[in-house]
Amino acid sequence: MSSTICSPIVLSILLLLSSLIVLYFLAPRFIPPKTLPSIPLPDELDDLALFRRAILADPNNQGQLPSLTSSSSHSPPLKKIAFLFLTNSNLSFAPLWERFFHGTNSDLYNIYVHADPTVQIHHPSSGIFFRRFIQGSKATQRASPTLISAARRLMAAALLDDPSNAFFAIFSQHCIPLHSFRFVYKTLFFFNRNRHHSPHNTSRSFIEIIADDPLLRDRYVARGDNVMMPEIPFDRFRVGSQFFVLTRPHTIMVVRDRILWRKFRMPCLKAKADSCYPEEHYFPTLLSMQDPKGCSQYTLTRVNWTGSVNGHPHTYHPGEISPKLVKNLRKSNSTYSYLFARKFSPDCLRPLLRIADSIIFRD
Ligand SMILES: *[C@@H]1O[C@H](CO)[C@@H](O)[C@H](O)[C@H]1NC(C)=O
Ligand SMILES: *[C@@H]1O[C@H](CO)[C@@H](O)[C@H](O)[C@H]1NC(C)=O
Ligand SMILES: *[C@@H]1O[C@H](CO)[C@@H](O)[C@H](O)[C@H]1NC(C)=O
Ligand SMILES: *[C@@H]1O[C@H](CO)[C@@H](O)[C@H](O)[C@H]1NC(C)=O
Repeated sequence: MSSTICSPIVLSILLLLSSLIVLYFLAPRFIPPKTLPSIPLPDELDDLALFRRAILADPNNQGQLPSLTSSSSHSPPLKKIAFLFLTNSNLSFAPLWERFFHGTNSDLYNIYVHADPTVQIHHPSSGIFFRRFIQGSKATQRASPTLISAARRLMAAALLDDPSNAFFAIFSQHCIPLHSFRFVYKTLFFFNRNRHHSPHNTSRSFIEIIADDPLLRDRYVARGDNVMMPEIPFDRFRVGSQFFVLTRPHTIMVVRDRILWRKFRMPCLKAKADSCYPEEHYFPTLLSMQDPKGCSQYTLTRVNWTGSVNGHPHTYHPGEISPKLVKNLRKSNSTYSYLFARKFSPDCLRPLLRIADSIIFRD
C-alpha cells in the first residue's frame, strides 16, 4: 500500500522541518552577533526623557528651532562656560584644573562630570568637582555610540542646570588647559565674533569639521553599505575632533536631534570595528548639516596625531613636559591659539603643576 511507502518520507520531512524550527530559535544563542554591542533600550528611553526636559526648559524655547541670536529679552544674561568632563577613570588632573579655576568668580563657569558607573571612580569630597557628578551616567565603550550618548547627556544636564551656560566645552580626563581661565573666557566671549554669519555678530562654535579624509569612506560604511541613507549621503558625512566648544543654540540642536541619531546609534559591524569611531563623526556631521557657517570648522583642543597607534593620538609622558612643549602646543594655524590639549598620562600631573603658574596660566 502506498501509505507504507510514503510514511518514512513524510516522517523525515517532518523531522527536518522541526529541527529547522528549533535551529531558528536557538541559533542566535550560539552564533555570535555580527555587530558590536548596541545601546540598551531602557538607556535610550532615559536619555530621550532627559533631552526632552532640557529642550522644554530652555528659556529660548518657543516650540521651534532655537534662534541663533541668543538675545531674547526674557533670557538671563548668558555668561558662563560649562566645562563638561567625560571620564571612565579617575580625574587625575583635578589639582591642575583646581589651579586653572583658582580665584575665578564662580558666576563665570560650571563644571559637570559624566563618570562611567561600571568603573570605580573617586568622587572628590571637596573642591571644584565636589557634587558635580551628574545623575544617570551610563557605561561608555570605545567603538560604540555610547560615547555620543554620554556627551549628549552631559550637555542636557548642563542646559537644564543653568540657563546662564552659554558655551559648552567637552573634555576627557586626559585633557589639560594651555592658558588661564581669563584668557579662555576672553577668547570665547570677546574675541569670538562671527562676521560671516550675518546679519548678527553671533558667537561661533569651535568644532573641527573635515570633509576630505582618506578614511572617510570606510567609516561611512562601518554600519553596513547604504544604511546611512537617505538622511546622510556620503558627501555630507564629516569627521572631526571629539573635543569641542559649542554655543548654547548648537548644544540645543545636538540634544534635539533625532534624525541623525537614528543612524548613528546603530552599532558598527564587527568586521568593520577598525573603522568604528561614531563620536568623531556625529557632532561634525550634524553641525555641518545644520549650521556650517556658525562653526569655526577647527577645534581649540590640540591633539597630536603624529605616530598614532590604534586610533589613539600620541600620549605625553612626564619626560616630555616642559615650558617649550606648552608653547608649542598653543601654536595654531587658525585665528586663535589652542586653549586646551590632550592626551596626557596621569603621571604628568607633577611636572605640569611645577610649570602651572609660571608658564601655563601666564598668558
Ligand atoms: C580611583 O581612585 C581610588 C582611590 O582614590 C581607587 O580606589 C580606585 O581604584 C581608582 N580607580 C581607578 C579606575 O583607577
Ligand atoms: C559686527 O562686527 C563688526 C566689526 O566688529 C562691526 O563693524 C559691525 O557693525 C557688527 N555688526 C553688528 C550687526 O553688530
Ligand atoms: C607629536 O608626537 C610625536 C611622537 O609621536 C613627537 O615626536 C612630536 O614631538 C610631538 N609633537 C609635539 C608638538 O609635541
Ligand atoms: C600648520 O601648518 C603647517 C604647514 O602646513 C604644518 O606643518 C603644521 O603642522 C601646522 N600646525 C598645526 C598645529 O596644525
